[in-house]
Amino acid sequence: MKVTVNRKAHFNAAHRLYNSDWTDARNATVFGKCANPNYHGHNYELIVSVKGEINPETGFVMDMKILKALIETEIEAEFDHKNLNVEVSEFKTLNPTAENISVVIWNKLRPNIDKNLELSITLYETPRNFVTYTGD
Ligand code: NI
Repeated sequence: MKVTVNRKAHFNAAHRLYNSDWTDARNATVFGKCANPNYHGHNYELIVSVKGEINPETGFVMDMKILKALIETEIEAEFDHKNLNVEVSEFKTLNPTAENISVVIWNKLRPNIDKNLELSITLYETPRNFVTYTGD
């Protein structure tokens, strides 16, 4: 029997989506407003989901205090109120799309969570656009 526990978090961050191999016109066509050279912000909503067996001693899948602290130190402290392209090393050469941000978040959290637990990241870039990454 496996149960999934979920923790919501939030960060504000700026980004620009851009492929340096392309013309400005093509970037504008593909990325729209997100290609703005002067950057722009999003209110990112993050859901971190951890799935596994219930520990019979605690009744927990994972201690949510620990998960909360992990998200604060690994993700919020690194991303909140930052320009992702300029200030977050992972995005120096990686386009900070919601897809890529979710993979970076997964990679930062995975080593800190018990290997018997499954980790899934859901990231909302807008209330209607969100992505999910489970490590596949
Ligand atoms: Ni954008």
